[in-house]
Amino acid sequence: MKTTNNSMLITGGGSGIGLEIAKLFSRKGNKVIITARNEEKLKAALAQLDGDAHYIVADVTREEDVAALVQQITNDFPDLNVLVNNAGHARIHDIAQSEDALQIARDEMETNYFGVVNLTTGLLPVLKKNKDAAVVNVTSIVAFAPGLSLPTYSASKAALHSYTQSLRLSLDKSAIKVFEVMPPLVDTEFAKDIKSDNKISPAEVAMELMLGMATDNYEVRIASTEQLYRNFLGRPDKAMLALNGLPLQ
Ligand SMILES: NC(=O)c1ccc[n+]([C@@H]2O[C@H](COP(=O)([O-])OP(=O)(O)OC[C@H]3O[C@@H](n4cnc5c(N)ncnc54)[C@H](OP(=O)(O)O)[C@@H]3O)[C@@H](O)[C@H]2O)c1
Repeated sequence: MKTTNNSMLITGGGSGIGLEIAKLFSRKGNKVIITARNEEKLKAALAQLDGDAHYIVADVTREEDVAALVQQITNDFPDLNVLVNNAGHARIHDIAQSEDALQIARDEMETNYFGVVNLTTGLLPVLKKNKDAAVVNVTSIVAFAPGLSLPTYSASKAALHSYTQSLRLSLDKSAIKVFEVMPPLVDTEFAKDIKSDNKISPAEVAMELMLGMATDNYEVRIASTEQLYRNFLGRPDKAMLALNGLPLQ
């Protein structure tokens, strides 16, 4: 997959990993459209991008916003050939204790799963018109083994991982490639309440995505995600204990 001269929509492009993806790809000669809910953040992000860059305010959990976003892309950016589903939401909680687990799980699924399914479905007709196209879904290391402090978030990323695998196979005969980016802990606002010395930078995630696209590596398992994945293939139970820093039984 080429990594220049693309026209890319990046959800959650106003901060964190999405912003670093937007910065890197705009520097390398791609048209970048960033979208998120907070217009001030999007404006500040846009000021950091090079070349042909735009922003559109949209909440991926609101069906009317997604419909309007799809319409605007169809009308104003019919050359769109890459969709990066990066927007994400997580709450730290303990499912054995929290009384609002259902609401938390629903909120996470709305952003991390249903929002992706809705936007992808809406934009597939645009992507199909291009000879060289891609969908990039940002999942997580916890798609393989759940993190106990992020139980319902982990489930939403496992759902997105499964959807991504099906989408890839369903589009196998088309010109649309389907990539999945699986970061470990990343040093962004998102992970600020999770204590760890092992966070990687969001710029590293952006670099790994670019490398993954250039080499048609469809499952981009970044840093410790690769080792966790290998453990998971052999002993899923041990992979889960290791991910959560628990003693191996
Ligand atoms: N940080 C980590 O440790 C880590 C690890 C693995 C995977 N990830 C994944 O990486 C992705 C990016 O996260 P990040 O670490 O870069 O966090 P971040 O800096 O908090 O970025 C999340 C972005 O998503 C946007 N967003 C949230 N809800 C949205 C909604 N309903 N509609 C549209 N945009 C929405 C936010 O912008 P607004 O608030 O303006 O809408 C923000 O720009 C997420 O999918 C996350 O699950 C993160």
